[in-house]
Amino acid sequence: MVRITPQDICHKKKNQEKVVALTAYDYSMARLIDQAGVHIVLVGDSVANVVLGLDSTKEVGMAEMLHHAKAVSRGVQNALVVGDMPFESYQVDVSLAVDNAKKFIEEAGCGAVKLEWFDQCLEVTQAVVKSGIAVMGHIGLTPQTAEALGGFKVQGKDAESAKKLMDQAKALEKAGCFSLVLECIPERIAQYITENISIPTIGIGAGVHCDGQVLVVHDILGLFDRFRPKFVKQYVDLSAVIKKAVHDYKIDVIAERFPGKEHGFAINEQEFELLKEGEK
Ligand code: KIV
Repeated sequence: MVRITPQDICHKKKNQEKVVALTAYDYSMARLIDQAGVHIVLVGDSVANVVLGLDSTKEVGMAEMLHHAKAVSRGVQNALVVGDMPFESYQVDVSLAVDNAKKFIEEAGCGAVKLEWFDQCLEVTQAVVKSGIAVMGHIGLTPQTAEALGGFKVQGKDAESAKKLMDQAKALEKAGCFSLVLECIPERIAQYITENISIPTIGIGAGVHCDGQVLVVHDILGLFDRFRPKFVKQYVDLSAVIKKAVHDYKIDVIAERFPGKEHGFAINEQEFELLKEGEK
């Protein structure tokens, strides 16, 4: 098995090829996504919302993230698997951050980790990169620190905050990130950043000029209806497909149309007679 590497992702920018990324949280979905040819499978901390029914991504820790990352890794043959470092796994202490990043690689089989921007994130990024682990940065709307950003809002809408984003992008490039997620920022700012750094930008709510795009798989498949951000494009309504299939199953069970003969197992007639004899 030879998976796409962080270096391959960087080459895509040089070759002006788009990077296609999608989240996954379990074996079966990861396998399908990988077979469909996605370049990066991100085991996002969005697992908190779309799989675990929690309100905030801050509610998942290393144990949950490793559990899901291991399952995803088992399903992926070709894509680069990126483990999303959860809240407080890298913000508290630099050496703890390195140890936790190693767990994603050594225990869960990921090829890289992602960490969201926070005040000391350059120091952490440098230490993780120095330990030999590829890091994907994440700036703009960073859900783990959304309160400090004034909530779940578009970032970089004025010159001052856009300049901050530009500075963060350049600093993360210098710190050794191999790619950078730009979340919820104006299209022109994302384009400006993309044109001014050498590592690929992966946009989510950041317009078409990023070097690649990432979305939450439940959103593109119509599997999550608690909220749908403006930047999501839903490609299929799997909720409706699933509800119809489950309803059909229910009707079949009640009407004794399922299971049919073809779903069952037979016993030889003689053996059955012997059983009945023995019962007498
Ligand atoms: O957790 C997540 O899903 C993310 C995104 C970039 C989609 O971080």
